Amino acid sequence: MACIASALKALCLSLLFVAIASRPTNKPEVFNVLRFGAKPDGKTDSINVFTNIWKSACASKGGSSKIYVPKGTFYLGGAVEFVGPCTNQIEFVIDGTLLAPSNPGDIEKGTWINFMYINNLLISGAGTLDGQGKESWPLNDCRKNPNCKLAKTMGFSFVNNSRINGITSLNSKMGHFDFFAVHHFNITGVTIKAPGDSPNTDGLKFGSCSNIHISDTHIGTGDDCIAILSGVTDMDISNVKCGPGHGISVGSLGKGKDEKDVNGLTVRDTVFNGTSDGIRIKTWESSASQIVVSNFVYENIHMINVGNPINIDQKYCPYPPCEKKGESHVQIQDLKLKNIYGTSKNKVAVKLKCSKSFPCKNVELVDIDLEGVKDGPSTAVCENVHGSAHGKMVPQQCLNGP
Ligand SMILES: *[C@@H]1O[C@H](CO)[C@@H](O)[C@H](O)[C@H]1NC(C)=O
Ligand SMILES: *[C@@H]1O[C@H](CO)[C@@H](O)[C@H](O)[C@H]1NC(C)=O
Ligand SMILES: *[C@@H]1O[C@H](CO)[C@@H](O)[C@H](O)[C@H]1NC(C)=O
Repeated sequence: MACIASALKALCLSLLFVAIASRPTNKPEVFNVLRFGAKPDGKTDSINVFTNIWKSACASKGGSSKIYVPKGTFYLGGAVEFVGPCTNQIEFVIDGTLLAPSNPGDIEKGTWINFMYINNLLISGAGTLDGQGKESWPLNDCRKNPNCKLAKTMGFSFVNNSRINGITSLNSKMGHFDFFAVHHFNITGVTIKAPGDSPNTDGLKFGSCSNIHISDTHIGTGDDCIAILSGVTDMDISNVKCGPGHGISVGSLGKGKDEKDVNGLTVRDTVFNGTSDGIRIKTWESSASQIVVSNFVYENIHMINVGNPINIDQKYCPYPPCEKKGESHVQIQDLKLKNIYGTSKNKVAVKLKCSKSFPCKNVELVDIDLEGVKDGPSTAVCENVHGSAHGKMVPQQCLNGP
């Protein structure tokens, strides 16, 4: 009997162990930054604490780790890198504020907080990333200096199947969120803010990414709300508010030699308020790469007092002198613009300036209603653009044939 009882006990115990061992898939192992010595005083540098926590959370086994940043201000006085691959899935919950150094020289890398080579990362919380960009904006000389360098607030490279939900990013030095070689990534409920005159403070910037969803996000900065560069495919944007800023921009494209196609962009139910541009595609006029920009749908877009609501510019040249070596080699095709309405600050509300060598093909305009706010009725400008128009057309369409 005693033998059977102890055998049962052993069985029970081992069952209990199995239960405990498998528990973390429901309940993550929590790494609270306070418990590891971070000080919520806005002064003590927490870089080492955060780096060590990441190492433990990343190497931990059992399913998932949760790094927790509670309320309070945590100073990260230089570049921090969170590098995978990790054995655990990581949840990074930020309820407090992460504060960047105000001296731009203190961040010796291109990115302040950088995530690399990770699968299954979730960043969430009600907290804030404060980039403290004010001191660096006057130092921005990127117009003249191609090697100009100020840090982006948060970067993701080679990160898959991940998301950001919540959190606010304030006053980046030079760009808020940067994505490179990121696949299957969702961004929801994010707020991004910097003054309308702060230079190069892009909200969300993407290169070589695929399957990206952005929704319920509010972006107001001094540069593009969303910038979409070479090699981005399958991106879905909905319920975004953009302004101030330069709109949702594809490009600039075509300048570099090894650029890739941009294919499959949907922008729906989005408001541009007081931006310089709304829907924008820009390609350099003498482009080195021959690529295709295709399958874009813009639908239900509200423009409020927008400088250039619809602006395709294949003669992009932001600052002279421009090399006028020829026409853009970027082919733009299969573009649908449907139910785009509101007000245009400039008289030209619709600008479709396509390449002479590669005219825009299959551009479909449906229900465009963009009024001028001054200088009388709005107008459209077309160059080398082919397609069709249906429904309401204010300004009158000017396509160069089917
Ligand atoms: C992410 O996905 C890409 C493309 O599918 C793949 O090449 C890469 O190895 C993946 N990276 C990670 C960290 O899983
Ligand atoms: C992103 O959102 C889409 C659409 O809601 C969903 O199908 C997909 O599974 C999500 N991906 C991630 C990585 O959360
Ligand atoms: C547009 O921006 C102005 C100025 O910031 C603001 O007063 C107004 O409420 C905004 N409109 C919408 C619809 O968001």
